[in-house]
Order: sequence, then C-alpha cells, then structure tokens
Amino acid sequence: MTKRATPKLPNRLVPYSETFKKFIPQQWAPYPVKDSTPSEAAAYTPARRAAIRKLFPRDRLVIPAGGYKVRSNDCDYRYRPHSAFTHLTGLGQDFEPDAVLIIDGGEATLFFHARVPRTDPEFYSSAQYGEMWVGPRPSLEEMAHLTGLKVLDSSRLDAVMATPVSGGGKIRILAGVDFRLDRLVDALRGPDLEADSELTEALSELRLIKDDYEIREMEQACSATLVGFEAVIADIPEAVRRGRGERWVEGIFGLHARHQGNAVGYDTIAASGEHACTLHWIRNDGDLREGDLLLLDAGVEMDSLYTADVTRTLPVSGRFSPAQLKVYSAVLAAQQAGMDVAKHGAKFIDVHNAAIRVIAEHLSEWGILPVSVEETLAEEGGEFRRWMVHGTSHHLGIDVHDCAQARRKVYREGKLKAGMIITVEPGIYFKSTDLMVPEEFRGIGVRIEDDILITEDGYHNLSGAFPRQPDEVEAWMAEVQSR
Ligand code: GLY
Ligand code: MN
Ligand code: MN
Repeated sequence: MTKRATPKLPNRLVPYSETFKKFIPQQWAPYPVKDSTPSEAAAYTPARRAAIRKLFPRDRLVIPAGGYKVRSNDCDYRYRPHSAFTHLTGLGQDFEPDAVLIIDGGEATLFFHARVPRTDPEFYSSAQYGEMWVGPRPSLEEMAHLTGLKVLDSSRLDAVMATPVSGGGKIRILAGVDFRLDRLVDALRGPDLEADSELTEALSELRLIKDDYEIREMEQACSATLVGFEAVIADIPEAVRRGRGERWVEGIFGLHARHQGNAVGYDTIAASGEHACTLHWIRNDGDLREGDLLLLDAGVEMDSLYTADVTRTLPVSGRFSPAQLKVYSAVLAAQQAGMDVAKHGAKFIDVHNAAIRVIAEHLSEWGILPVSVEETLAEEGGEFRRWMVHGTSHHLGIDVHDCAQARRKVYREGKLKAGMIITVEPGIYFKSTDLMVPEEFRGIGVRIEDDILITEDGYHNLSGAFPRQPDEVEAWMAEVQSR
C-alpha cells in the first residue's frame, strides 16, 4: 500500500509564529459604540414574516442567506444573500454570509457569525470572517438593533435546530441555498421535497406585491439608472472613437451603478447594431458605429438589492434612420398597448397579448408575416415569435426576474394587483441573416423596456423619466451631449 502523503500547508500560507500569536491581540482600541438605529426596512419586515408564518403556523421555517460562492480556487464572488432572506430580514448589500433566519411559533431568530474578540485567531487568520481581511463584523447587539430581530450566534444554530418544533409541525427549509443546512434538516426529519418546495413557492409569492418601502427603493433604483444611462449617452462619441465601444458603455454604466447603488442588478446588455438581435448579449465586445443603434438594457441595484431593469434603443449618431424609426415606432406602439391594459384586476398575460398584437399587425403591414394576424396570434400559430421570442413582462424587485418560483397560476395565469411591479418590454429583432425580412430592416433590433407599478386604476411608470418617443430620445441625447 502506498503511504498517504502528509497534508501540506496551503502553498501560500506563511505559518504564524508563537511570537506573532502573542503579539497580535495586544493594545487595540475598543470597538466604537455604533448608533442603534434600525434599518429603514426593519419597520416593514415584521409584516412580511407574519404573512409567511400565517401560511405555515405550526412549522419551523428555515431561511438561509447562503454562503460565499467560489469564483475560482480560493477567490469568491462578492457576497450576495438569497433574496428571500433579504426580504424577511431587511439585510441587503453584502450581509450576511452563512446567516440563517428561523421562524418558529411566534418567534423569528437570526443566527449569524457575530464578532469575536481580537484575541481569537479568526481576527487575523480567516479570510472570510476575520477583521483583518473583511473589516470589523457586527456584534450580536448591533445586529439586533439593525434588524429588530432576536439574534443568536450561529454556533448555537445546530443545537436549536435539534429541539422539537414548537408548534408541533414540520421543519421546512428554503432548499438549495446552504447545503450544510439542507443535510442537517434532512438528517433531522428525512427528505421532504414537497414541504420545501411549498415554502420556496410561498416565499417567492410573498414578494409579488410590494410594500411602500419597496416601492420607494424601486423609484430610487430607476432614478439611479437614469444617471447611468445619461452618463453613457454623454460618452457615446468616446465609445465610438475608442473601438470596443460596447465594453466602454458597459463600463460607464457599471461605474455609476457601483457609485449610485450596490452594483448592476444583472449583467448589462450593451448591444450595438446586429448584436441587439441576440437577446442576452452580454459579451459586449463590439464596436459602436455611427448609423447603428445601441440597445442598452441595464439597471442599478440599490444597497437594499432592489433593482431597476430598463432598456432604451438609441441611435449612435443621435438620429434614427427612416428604417430604424419604423421599427422603433412599432415597438413603442406595442409597448404603449401593453401598458394601456395594465391595471389592478387585469390578467398578467393581457399585457403581453396587447403588445404582441401590435407587433403582429406591423409585421403583417410590412408584408413579412406569412399568415394573418389572427392566425399567428392563435395558440397553434406563433410565426411572429421569429422576431420576438421573449415574453413582454416579468415581475421585478430584489431579483431582476423576481418571484420566479411563484406558481404558474398566480404568475403567468394570474391577475395583476395594485402594488405589483412588472416590466413592459416588447421588441422586434431582425437578424441580418433573415431572408424573410426586407433588406432595409436587416440587422435592426429594438427593445423598449419600462418598469411599472400597478395601481387600482392603471399604472405608474417608475422609469417614466426616461424619454421614449423617438423625437424625445433624439432631443434627450442632444441635450445630454451638450451639457
Ligand atoms: N435584462 C433582462 C430582462 O430584461 O429581462
Ligand atoms: Mn426585463
Ligand atoms: Mn432588461
């Protein structure tokens, strides 16, 4: 039998000498007393937790934030908590790796890795938790003040999990977020996929209607996104001049997203010319050319993690060509038709149906559609989707595709309700290789996307400050570039 090699120290680690270990804990000033103001979200999270508790009154609900995700080797991505955890705790930004919210009976408890004294080797040796690596961590007391929650150190979690469920019901976990906890829960109660998927759906559906705090955050996300779009417009001539202008656009928007908020809410789509016909064009390595359109689909995510999702299709030269204008105007009419039917009580799918009817009518008018408008809109038709294969709307909030685990009957087949926030984002994409399309249209892709809040009698366009009419877009670009 070959002898197993002695485990080696990681190849870069410099061993800590006894001298260092004795020296390092000495003479540090005490931690400053932090102000004990609760977060703005803390006034809203008790109602959200009460709503989920009402659905599972006897059960213990385990909602993990999740841990770091490896980018490569020992380097992680910037930390982002699971959206359900953020919604129920109000913790956004990079709070709080490996934390867990437990709702059991009338009580909600947050477990997290609290600050350790500087005498603990973690202070210097842990790249994930140590103050020397990631800065000072909150104390239990600070976290309790911030969230308004009962807070315990995560070292207590396994013991608490092993206690009987207080209401006599079952343990349910938001599965797939923290694999250690998934295994712990399965060890305690056995696998119960149904219980877990019911919780996952319920947590997603809980976010369908936004409260006043969420609406304010979404308004701010849209305002911050406007700052980013205007910075891009101002720099379009520079992006053209430099080459690889799509990257320049992505970078300028990203700079403002990090400056105004936490980050981009999703990878920016900076698609110039033909690239606009690739729906999720995020490689962004193309040039910006005079005479082409730039499809910019981008959103700023605030520190609270709420994100905007806005698309404008802009003429690089500042003026639409006649062919571009025809396509743009058709998409705009489709978007307006979708918005016009959006209100409390309408069906979610009504918005899409209204938008695609206008798209189909234009395709028919241009002689592109091989069948009638009615035939292509019928369930067994669908030819029009060659030029707009995506849906018109999705819910928007902490996730760009928010509430994605909500059941079909309350999402796609459900009704719009006051307080929901959805996108309206039709498009027409004519690939340069599409021989069914008149030559003047080939290589033109247009999408227009706004974020609307559903109200009792209609909608409020949260991104309404972004010009949409083609002449307004041209005037906007000229004005921003002359500042
Ligand atoms: N930005 C992705 C989307 O519009 O859904
Ligand atoms: Mn969208
Ligand atoms: Mn988008």
